[in-house]
Amino acid sequence: MSDTFPVEKFRSLKTPFYYYDLNLLQDTLDQVKKHGLSKGYHVHFAVKANFNLPILEIIREAGLGIDCVSGKEIERAIEAGFTPDQIAFAGVGKTDEEIRTGLYHNIFSFNCESIQEISVLNELAREAGKVANVSVRLNPNVKAKTHKYITTGLSENKFGVNPEHLPKLFKMLPNLKSVNLTGIHFHIGSQIRDLQPFKDLCEKVNLIQDRFEEEGFPLTHVNVGGGLGISYEKPDEEPYPDFEPFFNLFEDNLKLRDGQQVHFELGRSIVGQCGSLISKVLFVKEGITTDFAVLDAGMTELIRPALYQASHSVDVLTSDKPLQTYDVVGPICETSDTFRKGIKMPKVERGDLVAIRSAGAYGEVMSSGFNLREKVKAYYSDEI
Ligand code: LLP
Repeated sequence: MSDTFPVEKFRSLKTPFYYYDLNLLQDTLDQVKKHGLSKGYHVHFAVKANFNLPILEIIREAGLGIDCVSGKEIERAIEAGFTPDQIAFAGVGKTDEEIRTGLYHNIFSFNCESIQEISVLNELAREAGKVANVSVRLNPNVKAKTHKYITTGLSENKFGVNPEHLPKLFKMLPNLKSVNLTGIHFHIGSQIRDLQPFKDLCEKVNLIQDRFEEEGFPLTHVNVGGGLGISYEKPDEEPYPDFEPFFNLFEDNLKLRDGQQVHFELGRSIVGQCGSLISKVLFVKEGITTDFAVLDAGMTELIRPALYQASHSVDVLTSDKPLQTYDVVGPICETSDTFRKGIKMPKVERGDLVAIRSAGAYGEVMSSGFNLREKVKAYYSDEI
């Protein structure tokens, strides 16, 4: 049985749905303020992790900026009250229309991922009679020690400009009159629990920054991206990651120039733990090795287990019967629609409620209409 969730209220709601604990979100943001913003760092929330307005508004009020990867995310950020000077726009494949959206709003930074993109941006900015601020995303070839699908900083990955190609950029930049190079940008991957890769990143940033300076391109900011991971195993014991050593590591290892600003783009570490997917047990089916608890939520609501073999804790909210072993599965016509295999949890029956934890980041935003499934609702702790 759970005392973390308003279970009685949940019983009257149509399942599945997302539930967000806004107090936990606030506590997490307080940690970011205490250990990051207090050092003068700028933290942009990676809106791709969760784009719900009530969440964005709390994040904005805490003083964070925003990191977008599409034109629609820029519009959502503006709708949530973020100002253009708080918006960084990344993405390996920005369309002309999306670039124009960023130009229209005069955003803080286009994080450009290829040399061709910078020249296209220059052209579109010239047409619009503007000068766009550019941060070049570089691929530092740093191993992030995470799932291969969410590793982004290796040479073989599609992201960023390879430092080998910098001479071409240095040669081209003076001729691009409608872009203003302001910074360099990195993002090595996501769900990084061991801090060593961030230290490796700092070393690369320092070397690359020297090269820009030697070529006569001083930078006003360095953006080191996001990637800090959360505990999917023990969400109650670790309700937010330890931000202190994370921010300290950058303070200790980045060689900054006078007045240079450091930017971060954190997504999962901010919203991951505050969201849960609440679902009902539809059927309990006897199997050969374990029984199956068949839920009314599936990979259409939370694709992370199917896509990254992610293991989310499953809390049974309405039973404290003796433990039994289950495969916890969804209703979708794919074997990958499995949340957990062979886990022990209190014996469940048809109608019992479960919470699939740590689903606040890359959960609801990645839901799909496969099998013509309806988009599920979100509820917030301040309204129920
Ligand atoms: N900045 C850039 C340029 C990014 O690509 C990302 C995430 C972030 C920041 C935020 O990273 P975070 O702090 O959230 O790790 N859907 C996957 C994660 C994909 C991450 C994509 N990029 C998952 O569910 O694990």
